[in-house]
Amino acid sequence: MKKIVEMMTVFSSVKIMQKSMTSSLDITYINEPIKYKFDKSKSYFLYMHIPFCDEFCTFCTFHKFKYKQSTCKEYFKALRLELLKAKEEGFNFHTLYIGGGTPLIDEVELIKTIELAKKLFDIKKVSCESTPSHIDPKVLKNFDGLIDRLSIGVQTFDDKTLKEISRYDKYGSSQVLQERISNIIGVVPVISLDLIFNFSTQSSQMLKKDLEIVKKLNPEQITTYPLMSSRFVNCSTLDHLKILKNSNEFHFYNIIREELKDYSLNNAWSFSKDKTNLCDEYTVNNSEYIGLGSGAFSHINNQLFINAYDLTQHANLISENSNAIIAVSAEFEFKKHIQYQFLLHLFGGSVHIERFNELFSVSLQRILKVELFMLKILNAIYVKDGKIYPTRFGEFLTVVMMREFYSGMDNLRAMLRKSIVE
Ligand SMILES: C[S@@+](CC[C@H](N)C(=O)[O-])C[C@H]1O[C@@H](n2cnc3c(N)ncnc32)[C@H](O)[C@@H]1O
Ligand code: SF4
Repeated sequence: MKKIVEMMTVFSSVKIMQKSMTSSLDITYINEPIKYKFDKSKSYFLYMHIPFCDEFCTFCTFHKFKYKQSTCKEYFKALRLELLKAKEEGFNFHTLYIGGGTPLIDEVELIKTIELAKKLFDIKKVSCESTPSHIDPKVLKNFDGLIDRLSIGVQTFDDKTLKEISRYDKYGSSQVLQERISNIIGVVPVISLDLIFNFSTQSSQMLKKDLEIVKKLNPEQITTYPLMSSRFVNCSTLDHLKILKNSNEFHFYNIIREELKDYSLNNAWSFSKDKTNLCDEYTVNNSEYIGLGSGAFSHINNQLFINAYDLTQHANLISENSNAIIAVSAEFEFKKHIQYQFLLHLFGGSVHIERFNELFSVSLQRILKVELFMLKILNAIYVKDGKIYPTRFGEFLTVVMMREFYSGMDNLRAMLRKSIVE
């Protein structure tokens, strides 16, 4: 009975998130340049996207192009111009997250770009993603004082799965990955290793082995993403329920929590040896951010702004205007905004009711009365000392909802990418 209730709750949560994503992400393409309306006294979070990869992995839907040295150099040039334009507009930033693609694909250009960002803005912390093939200690030493946290995409240490997701030949076997990683522990202040769980051929044993290896490597942080895919979109209710019935996702999540019980929780899927706020989900701690680069999203004043996907269009727009925006979303409805913020806070570990109410000028208990009632009945949350906490099942539910949120964003990316190909 408990399993059925949990399954139905997961099913409903996925449906709610999908519906919300479809209606919220009502995108309009713009013909005239627009400017962000933003608060100059605020410090926004800065995201920069480097959309190049040597090879593509089967599971990844991030915005990327096959690497070509000359195109990549031109792109970095446009990105630096974009930084200058953001400065001219009056932005300031304290935290920079560089994602991809493969940010370290051209280290010389990346160094120049981080140095410029640090010169222009009050950036104190820089976090950067990397593939396992760009983590040579000699190269990373050149980033001393420039990168504070490096998150490395491992995904799994299982050789068979690495072959299935097209990473074995490119990034090396489990053994090679382990050697490369152990060589750089301590070279960058914080190393974070990304794992993916719930691959279709993964067993509990395989997941435990991945976690055992990752713990032995002893990085400062570990992020365990549930496999994200758009398989539930356009899937019939019956098929969806069948998938959920056979799904190991909650079981796997419990294994992760058990194996990583000595780590602090950054959020429901990210773990730290020490509690730190530099984690992978820049949207969690920084709900308003500016995205620079091709295909990057910005979130300001309850709206999403989307940059050009096409590299030539990105470069042209940024040389002529103050930004490279090609599309905007409708303003999110207030209640949806509050639901989303509530989810982000819960995913982050707890919701301090009084602070939440102050921050968003709402009464949480009034505006989300039904949602809170249902979550309590379903044993997903409890209230203690003025805070709402997720139970273990509630934590898993936030993982499921965040997975669907990111899958929704992926669908949007796929739609936008199609628009540049057609
Ligand atoms: C955008 S990737 C960049 C990392 C780097 N390019 C690499 O592959 O090593 C950042 C992380 O997102 C996660 N990711 C990408 N696609 C995913 C998917 N479909 N499901 C779950 N996690 C995914 C992976 O763990 C990956 O390391
Ligand atoms: S997972 Fe990383 S390397 Fe693979 S395609 Fe995505 S961004 Fe590129």
